[in-house]
Amino acid sequence: MSDAATGKAPLLSVQNLSVNYGAIKALKRANLDVFNGEIVAVIGANGAGKTTLMNAIVGDVPRAEGIILLEGARLPAKSYQVVAAGVSISPEGRKVFAPLTVHENLEMGAFPIKDRNEVKKLREKIYNLFPRLRERMTQYAGTLSGGEQQMLAIGRALMARPRVLLLDEPSLGLAPIIISEIFKELTKINSELGMTMLIVEQNARKALQLSHRAYVLQTGEITMSGNSKELLRNPEIEAAYLGGKKKK
Ligand SMILES: Nc1ncnc2c1ncn2[C@@H]1O[C@H](COP(=O)(O)OP(=O)(O)OP(=O)(O)O)[C@@H](O)[C@H]1O
Ligand SMILES: [Mg+2]
Repeated sequence: MSDAATGKAPLLSVQNLSVNYGAIKALKRANLDVFNGEIVAVIGANGAGKTTLMNAIVGDVPRAEGIILLEGARLPAKSYQVVAAGVSISPEGRKVFAPLTVHENLEMGAFPIKDRNEVKKLREKIYNLFPRLRERMTQYAGTLSGGEQQMLAIGRALMARPRVLLLDEPSLGLAPIIISEIFKELTKINSELGMTMLIVEQNARKALQLSHRAYVLQTGEITMSGNSKELLRNPEIEAAYLGGKKKK
């Protein structure tokens, strides 16, 4: 059960966040809350500003205005400080460190954690979640399949022991069967480890099936939000993001 219905303060709160790339206003005063234990999705078309939103949260692009709070405290602006504060990301395109092994990639993810024993325990946890990574721990990340790289990107982000895990298009370029495998794992990470997640996806159907609540981002603006199950049945959402009504 998430805190969304219980009136508690959000774990992550994005308030009036704007991002400009020169004259382009990529994000316009976006507001969004993620409560403890929730999976929240942001859906939107190509270029809607989803990656911009994620990168602004983790400090990879400068914020023009607005604030981001984690447990009521302002999230720092620099990316390494954001990770240390408790927000880590599996980025768009995965961005694993290709010349490093699976094992070394996971170690890199744990940079804010000084206790070696803790790092070892975390790594075991990741290998239990993704047995394919354990089998390939000495393999160079650049030689992994797309699906395995995605698992590694998620594992690397989890190695920082985040309070909130951000996922930017984990389904991108993957075969449907691999997408299902990864989404099943994400459900488990949420329900069994209690991990709070914010996911952005072009694959709106998958994202709405996975998440508890969702926001719709349209050319830099949040235009709609609600319970994911209800959004899945919403005719407007169906027409714009789910490829129209499914033929029986
Ligand atoms: N570094 C940049 N410089 C200039 N414009 C940018 C930059 N990055 C993104 N943009 C523009 O900002 C807008 C939002 O881009 P963004 O990558 O956030 O979209 P997105 O929703 O993640 O798209 P996609 O689904 O294709 O990943 C687009 O119009 C894009 O061209
Ligand atoms: Mg993107």
